[in-house]
Amino acid sequence: MKLPNGPQSPAFVQMLRWVFSPMSFMEECAQRYGDIFSLRLQSNSSPIVFVSNPQALQEILTSDTKQFEASGELNQIFASLLGKHSVITVSGAQHQRQRQLLMPTFHGDRMRNYGQVIGNITEEIINQWQIGKPFSVRSAMQTITMRTIMQAVFGLYNSPRAQELEKRLSAMLEKGSSRLSAAMLYFPILQQDFGPLSPWGQAMRRQQQADQLLYEEINERREQADDSRTDILSLLMTATDEAGQPMTDEELRDELMTLLFAGHETTATALTWALYWIHKLPVVREKLLEELDKLGENPDPSTIFKLPYLNAVCCETLRIYPVAMLTFPRVVRTAVSLCGYELEPDTLVIGSMYLTHQREDLYPQPKQFKPERFLERQFSPYEYLPFGGGARRCIGLAFAQFEMKVVLAKILSRLELGLVDDRDVRPKRRGLVTGLERPIQMVVKNQHTVKSQILESIAG
Ligand code: HEM
Repeated sequence: MKLPNGPQSPAFVQMLRWVFSPMSFMEECAQRYGDIFSLRLQSNSSPIVFVSNPQALQEILTSDTKQFEASGELNQIFASLLGKHSVITVSGAQHQRQRQLLMPTFHGDRMRNYGQVIGNITEEIINQWQIGKPFSVRSAMQTITMRTIMQAVFGLYNSPRAQELEKRLSAMLEKGSSRLSAAMLYFPILQQDFGPLSPWGQAMRRQQQADQLLYEEINERREQADDSRTDILSLLMTATDEAGQPMTDEELRDELMTLLFAGHETTATALTWALYWIHKLPVVREKLLEELDKLGENPDPSTIFKLPYLNAVCCETLRIYPVAMLTFPRVVRTAVSLCGYELEPDTLVIGSMYLTHQREDLYPQPKQFKPERFLERQFSPYEYLPFGGGARRCIGLAFAQFEMKVVLAKILSRLELGLVDDRDVRPKRRGLVTGLERPIQMVVKNQHTVKSQILESIAG
């Protein structure tokens, strides 16, 4: 078997480039080797095949699982944090079962309830911003997405336990997003607990402290069952599988941690990028305000969700620098031909959304932020895939898009903001996902009221 071409440098060197500059590394490889290439990221295991061609991605993501399997075994890098029952770390029938339990909680009418929750949290945060005083966009967005998960997913409002848990989880995730943490996940040899001062020892202790509170909450809910609750934890606690079995405490803990891990940092980063682009490019902001202006006061979140230009801005934000660079890995189960290469069983294949979204043939001038692309043409689910695809497509896709739109609409229609520093910002690795290379500060210039609100308040 001849694997697709790729760099010939030692695995250790490739791994370092992968940990420290994944995007430029992938771009160099794509320029040199094309739509498909192999990287050697561990000396003792086979190379991994990276793919960015949309037709090949479609084959990988939609083919029968007998051909390309999205096995949870391949995601064991996450097991130390998410546990062995997480939807991300399980495989096959168990994976399908977990998805079936989770999916309904992210759909339909439930979204309407969450819209209210997200709107209120955003209001709470922006009320703390003062005119002329700079604030960190990333921390503000992290607080919004953390509280959204705490309330919509965990059902925890302002109780002392909620506050303590928010503190512990934030500390855990913040530390977990450093390059050192990424290196610890990629190099299992670094996962050694040499006591509370060692990096891995600290990570484990932070996690145990958060787990303790989660288990306390689960126990209390079991003792004081309340049918009127609509949060995702309550729904999961009443769900049963085909054999009539409810989820165990450990399964619930793993699923909560998974939703937090998958949904908090990702959405906060997407929101931070969106606010950056909107204020970096005044014409984008003008167009958005024009659209929001037509909505009137307190628009229904589902109306916000359907706004075409806001949608295009969110899509372009997730295209240009997708928060998740890659799909989860898939493993070849039966020999298959892909982009002219014969791949043998056990070959690992990863879709690079980052490279697909940078393709000049799909997105002319790919480094430019142009929301109009999404108004002018429709992209197939394999040309535009910020949420992956197939058996492991993001469960929180609708939730994340909804959250982005409600938060942005709320902020833009209430405040006139400006970037403190107008220099360009590039992406960089943050843990296992991507983020911004430097912190973004913004400042409130004015209380902004969209025209229709002024007119209504005059009329009222
Ligand atoms: C902008 C925000 C988000 C982005 C860019 C994003 C992206 C992704 C991607 C790329 C995948 C892997 C898909 C694949 O391999 O095909 C994924 C999986 C997943 N996402 Fe998201 N996500 C976001 C927000 C969320 C939210 C808000 C939640 C839930 C609260 C969530 C929950 C999950 C879960 C549970 C999985 C694993 C699915 C499985 O293994 O079956 N995500 N996400």
